[in-house]
Amino acid sequence: MLEKILDLGIKISKEQDYNKLFGIFLKGTTDIANCDAGTLYIYKERLEEGVLKKYLCFVSTINHTLKQYGGLDGEKLNLPPVIFSETNASSYAGIHRVILNVIDVYKDSNSIWMGPRKYDSITGYHTQSVLVIPLIDKKDELIGVLQLINCQDKDGNVIPFSKDIEKIIYSLSSQVAMILSNMLLTQDMEELLDSSINSLVNAIEAKTPFNALHTNTVTGLCDLFVDYLNKNSTEYHFTSDEKDVLHMAAQLHDVGKIGINDDILNKPTRLATRIDYIRSRFENLRLQLTVQKYANNDPLIQKDIDSLASDLEFIENVNNAPFIDNEKMDRINELCNKKVLGVNLLTDEEKEDLHIVKGTLTAAERAHIQEHVVKTVNILKDVKFGKKYHDSLTIAGQHHELLDGTGYPKKLKGDEINTQTRILTIMDIFDSLTAADRPYKSTIPVERAYSILTSMVNEGKLDATLVGYLRGFIDELLKEYGNLDGKIAKTILMIKANEKALKEKEKF
Ligand SMILES: [Fe+2]
Ligand SMILES: [Fe+2]
Repeated sequence: MLEKILDLGIKISKEQDYNKLFGIFLKGTTDIANCDAGTLYIYKERLEEGVLKKYLCFVSTINHTLKQYGGLDGEKLNLPPVIFSETNASSYAGIHRVILNVIDVYKDSNSIWMGPRKYDSITGYHTQSVLVIPLIDKKDELIGVLQLINCQDKDGNVIPFSKDIEKIIYSLSSQVAMILSNMLLTQDMEELLDSSINSLVNAIEAKTPFNALHTNTVTGLCDLFVDYLNKNSTEYHFTSDEKDVLHMAAQLHDVGKIGINDDILNKPTRLATRIDYIRSRFENLRLQLTVQKYANNDPLIQKDIDSLASDLEFIENVNNAPFIDNEKMDRINELCNKKVLGVNLLTDEEKEDLHIVKGTLTAAERAHIQEHVVKTVNILKDVKFGKKYHDSLTIAGQHHELLDGTGYPKKLKGDEINTQTRILTIMDIFDSLTAADRPYKSTIPVERAYSILTSMVNEGKLDATLVGYLRGFIDELLKEYGNLDGKIAKTILMIKANEKALKEKEKF
């Protein structure tokens, strides 16, 4: 007996999984008390239409005679909760913080024993001796209720629960209540941390309207990909803590964008608002030339007017082009030196913008945006993430590093970049490529994005094995959701929202 008690004490204090703890505790106490059946309930409160409702939820149950077992290995029990009221024994014990120990529920006149009798009439079971113990933590808060049924002697005859057993089970119940209370506190703190980080993410995403789903999509991709690797790979196994660390890193990875100039961060075209100044300058020149043409009665001036129109059309074209080839660059160079009526067609800033070969950013603007990684670390360096999330900020601060050392800000190489960071980097690029909400580039189809990632593997920039597994991960998504071109973010966010809803439901 002593060995069993000590053994259960060790098991419950070592178990990290909240749900598994229920089963271990119920199995252990029914064994120690040598009883035929038992149920463990967890106390829950929730607001329903503004009214606080209280319940006892079934989390684990054992009935050896009926061979009914549930919730013993961490699985959820889908039984309707018991209303927390004076009318049933378990709630009664919880409300009044009392231990109930009855020899025979059929010989006790108290109406709180109607429940077991009703249960017996439905199942054919015979409940006799019952021990009900509330699980109270050190703040006197009710955590749950343990109900043990039909204590047996060594011959299998039902006997009352002895005072000694009552004391032992009460002592173990206090211990488990304390452990569960600490776990709930940790869960609450993690939820608080997660929701605070989420608010920060929402603030960044509101700042980048063209890229509003990026952080949440990258986070969802990392979460789902890690699940995929755990299921399908032999090389990788991520514990739930390691998953949480990567999730946090993904949430944080672009926090530094808060410190980046909005005009640069959201620059939609090469010239952005400068195109408006160019248009009015050209219109001004066109009017002046037109006046000259009529005043001097010089039809040749029409050629200059036409050339001006053609130059503006070309500039408009370059402004929105994804890539500038050599031919276009030659004409841009010509325009940079061109004057009309003694006026330079372009300012120095406009010339620099038009010289951008690819994308919408000048070298200086790109460097400013790249500072977001350093800013992420600086903004968050004083946050106490605790032991568990200690590595999250490091991973977040390295999401633009590449295996060949050409990334930034530290130009790390190979082994200096851990697996979680490599995953974050791949997902960050994958979302940037497939995103449908960026005005400066058309949406890249999923297959094309994958082949860009593959070329980055060939260049030694990304992890070959992980990108290899990404293929299978994408295929799984395609099989389930069909064509995903332009729909990656929407799909990932939908999957994550469904997962969250299910989790909330399971929580209750
Ligand atoms: Fe970034
Ligand atoms: Fe990013």
